[in-house]
Amino acid sequence: MLIKKILKTSPTAEIMEVKGWVRTRRDAKDLSFIEINDGSCLKNLQVVAQGDMDNFESLVRKLTTGCAVRFTGRLAASPAKGQDVEFQAESVEVYGWAPAESYPLQKKRHSFEFLRDIPHLRPRTNSIGAVMRIRGQLVTAVNRFFEEEDFVQIHTPVISTSDCEGAGEMFIVTTPGAGEGEPPCAPYFFGRPAGLTVSGQLEAEAYAMALGRVYTFGPTFRAENSHTSRHLAEFWMVEPEMAFCDLREDIDLAEKFLKFLIADVLDNCHEDLELFTKFVDKGLRHRLEAVTGRAFTRTTYSEAVEILENSGKKFEYPISWGSDLQAEHERFLSEEIFGGPTVVTDYPASIKPFYMRLNDEGKTVAAMDVLFPSIGEIIGGSQREDRYEVLEKRMAAQNIDPAAYQWYLDLRRYGSAPHAGFGLGFERLLQFVTGMTNIRDVIAFPRTAGRA
Ligand code: 4AD
Ligand code: MG
Repeated sequence: MLIKKILKTSPTAEIMEVKGWVRTRRDAKDLSFIEINDGSCLKNLQVVAQGDMDNFESLVRKLTTGCAVRFTGRLAASPAKGQDVEFQAESVEVYGWAPAESYPLQKKRHSFEFLRDIPHLRPRTNSIGAVMRIRGQLVTAVNRFFEEEDFVQIHTPVISTSDCEGAGEMFIVTTPGAGEGEPPCAPYFFGRPAGLTVSGQLEAEAYAMALGRVYTFGPTFRAENSHTSRHLAEFWMVEPEMAFCDLREDIDLAEKFLKFLIADVLDNCHEDLELFTKFVDKGLRHRLEAVTGRAFTRTTYSEAVEILENSGKKFEYPISWGSDLQAEHERFLSEEIFGGPTVVTDYPASIKPFYMRLNDEGKTVAAMDVLFPSIGEIIGGSQREDRYEVLEKRMAAQNIDPAAYQWYLDLRRYGSAPHAGFGLGFERLLQFVTGMTNIRDVIAFPRTAGRA
């Protein structure tokens, strides 16, 4: 039985078994206490091994942090504080030892920096284990939300020929012998340049224009050389796309979605959240409840810039109309000015990708970014340009070769309709939910510039 279940079971005379990894062993004169954890929950199960049991000296007294074990025994009421039950061992089996001289994880707390050097072992710590259980919970919550909202999940390609964001941040996919030999492998394996997707949006649009409401949830890749606590070269994005939808409805969905996800974690991850509240961020629960309990502030880019200009605050990057908001501006707006999640809309066309719908005054586009306290941008989205001629002009203005995007233009040539969508940075959401300050600590195996 998993420890998660055992801890909720009443003491019983039945013989049962438990398997897990030793966290600590404490010895008394004629008995040992072994804390074991199997990853099913944060809490350990305390196993009590009496000196007269088989293999006590040969096995039990040699157990160290990290050993994989199996105990059989009985569940009894525990006299100790902080636990209802303990496991009284009758037999022990050791699956695998973990020599203390070399095993890097010991009983003390390790820094997250240290743990990043052992990404294959760090899931055995309380903190990374808790992050990953919450991550798993959120994955199912994402899918549940879209099921309830009648969306169809589409698996958009990982290898893509479109640079959706137009920022030239694609990793190129090629083969060792590219450029030599015969087609199809020369000069390009796919017959044309291809790379790892930066966003599934363009492909999702094709499906939204047929199935109405779709979403894609997968890994995305950006070859940007940013060494910040909020950027990864490989991250996961949730991207819904809706036909017959304008920017306002798009924002409404984003707000409902974020509130749903945070409420789900508040409801289902008590124990793991408590760990982060205790060790990472005392105000965590309060911050999460504040998101679910109030309407997101909505403001335009022009208003936001005016507020920033008049704030009297010195920013590292000066701000004026036409320049992009930096993380420091985004945080200042959501933390100091609006005191909570803030949606900024209608950015200058010149700083946003070609696919966003041009507003009537011709200078701004129907874009929206959701800004969160302590994170900055967590969602980026827009209403898409659905007018063929306008899209063509926008592409020309951004030096995008229309030949490579004929299929995308076709979506406007045949049965075009207003549509909109957004992308949620899944790791940024996890940072917000756990309070973890570095994005490298909320993904299993982080990939960043210079490091994989
Ligand atoms: O704002 P972005 O670039 O938007 C898009 O890619 C759109 N095509 C999405 C859409 O409309 N379907 O990225 C969306 C979100 C950001 O708000 C941010 O949370 C996250 O993805 N993000 C990153 N997360 C981690 N590391 C990076 N390098 C990220 N770049 C963006
Ligand atoms: Mg963005």
